[in-house]
Amino acid sequence: MSAEKLEISVAKGLLEETPANVLVLNLFEGVKIPAGATGAIDIALDGLISKFVIAKEGFDGKFGSMYVFPTYGKIAAEKVLLVGLGKNKDFNLNRLREISQKIIKKCMKMHNARKVISVLHGAGIGGFDPEQSARMIAEGTLIGAYSFDKYKTEKQSKKVEDFVIVDMVEENCKKAKTGAKRGKIIATAVNFARNLSNEQPAYATPSKLAEIAQSLKDIDVKVYDKDEIEKMGMGAFLGVARGSSQEPKFIHMRYKSSKVPQRKVAIIGKGICFDSGGLDIKPPSSMLTMKDDMSAAAAVLGVMSVIKDLKPNCEVHGLIAACENMPGCSAYKPGDILTAKNGKTIEVDNTDAEGRLTLADALCYACELDVDEVIDLATLTGACVVALGNTVSGIMGNHQPTIDKLIKCANAGGEKLWQMPMFEEYGESLKSNIADMKNTGSRMGGTQIAAMFLQNFVKKVHWAHIDIAGTAYIEKKGATGAGVRTIINYLLS
Ligand code: BES
Ligand code: MN
Ligand code: ZN
Repeated sequence: MSAEKLEISVAKGLLEETPANVLVLNLFEGVKIPAGATGAIDIALDGLISKFVIAKEGFDGKFGSMYVFPTYGKIAAEKVLLVGLGKNKDFNLNRLREISQKIIKKCMKMHNARKVISVLHGAGIGGFDPEQSARMIAEGTLIGAYSFDKYKTEKQSKKVEDFVIVDMVEENCKKAKTGAKRGKIIATAVNFARNLSNEQPAYATPSKLAEIAQSLKDIDVKVYDKDEIEKMGMGAFLGVARGSSQEPKFIHMRYKSSKVPQRKVAIIGKGICFDSGGLDIKPPSSMLTMKDDMSAAAAVLGVMSVIKDLKPNCEVHGLIAACENMPGCSAYKPGDILTAKNGKTIEVDNTDAEGRLTLADALCYACELDVDEVIDLATLTGACVVALGNTVSGIMGNHQPTIDKLIKCANAGGEKLWQMPMFEEYGESLKSNIADMKNTGSRMGGTQIAAMFLQNFVKKVHWAHIDIAGTAYIEKKGATGAGVRTIINYLLS
């Protein structure tokens, strides 16, 4: 959580005259004689970059390549970190965010890098708008600096305290300040979500999620307890919750813009605080990461935690049906029949397909809110991980323009969405002999079948479903905050 200690700012000044432990400069692939800021520093260093680092050492500017050298007092910064930006024609804002993550990670490994100063990569004549550039630098730097060390008794002391974007043009600095502020807000939301989803399941319980929601500023929150959930008729959600000693909570957060809202949107996040599989219990290797099954809920909380700073011109409802999926003695069983909020009956075929049951009731609730659009996010299916891997989330829905817009918003945020089909055949295997449907069908096409199931609970709204099972949590790296940037961009669009 050291990202919180890292201060990002913008200052007007000359790079060679600004004191720092590290000065970050860049080079496009194949450039032999640097121009711009790197060129100016090269001259100040009597050609050290062009004549030595490039010509002798062979630094080629490939994307992500780095070279550190001391300046021996020739400029105010003690060291230079020269970073390869790759081919000029391939460089874009997403790559800038990505390289900024790599840069801060590198700086955090250096011996003395308390203060780092950086150029506004890619901005200037023919380049990015300084606001966009600074936003990406701030976003990438704060996301890259993140680590979850709450439970380490010996904290790794992260040495970077100040990260200053330096530019000599007043107007650029002004724009960069706005951009850096925006980047900071977005990274804060992403890291908020990561903190929650990295938490141990003993901490991040349904009650804790409710408590966190209630602590958010400028958000109206209603938390329904078990009795109220029962009164609302959420039999599918309650079925899942039955096997756990943790009380389920249904969380409804509401943000209203001060202006008349242009549209009303509900965002649902799957909030299974631990997914043991229930009586259809998971094998150890599959259960290991199942504290992450509330990552979508964490993403929704992350978005709601910064929404007052972003002020989108829409009414936003954040919804979480939070519970655990456990095999306790009251647990729901294969063969049980649950009745969802809209009256539809579901034969439990597999207790490990719990997410769609909780989402079913949340979708019914959302559709009664008089909203125009409902987006649900969920770590829903292992099949999605198999199909799309760890860097791409699946998207499905009932309204192509909404899906297209979400895909665009994801791309702009550096996230990837890929649409999966919802052909009618996928619904076939959900047929039940004794109820309206079963909760699982064929294993083949499991991601699409899950979406077909969810569609039964969607009424009269534009709906999109995003499966983040593969992207929310990466075993060695931990939680990613998947979905946060997509949703923020979507609300602001
Ligand atoms: N939470 C899991 C899905 C999951 C798997 C998320 C891997 C992240 C990584 C979900 O509740 C689940 O168990 N799904 C089952 C559904 C099956 C029983 C139809 C699955 O995908 O195996
Ligand atoms: Mn499950
Ligand atoms: Zn699950």
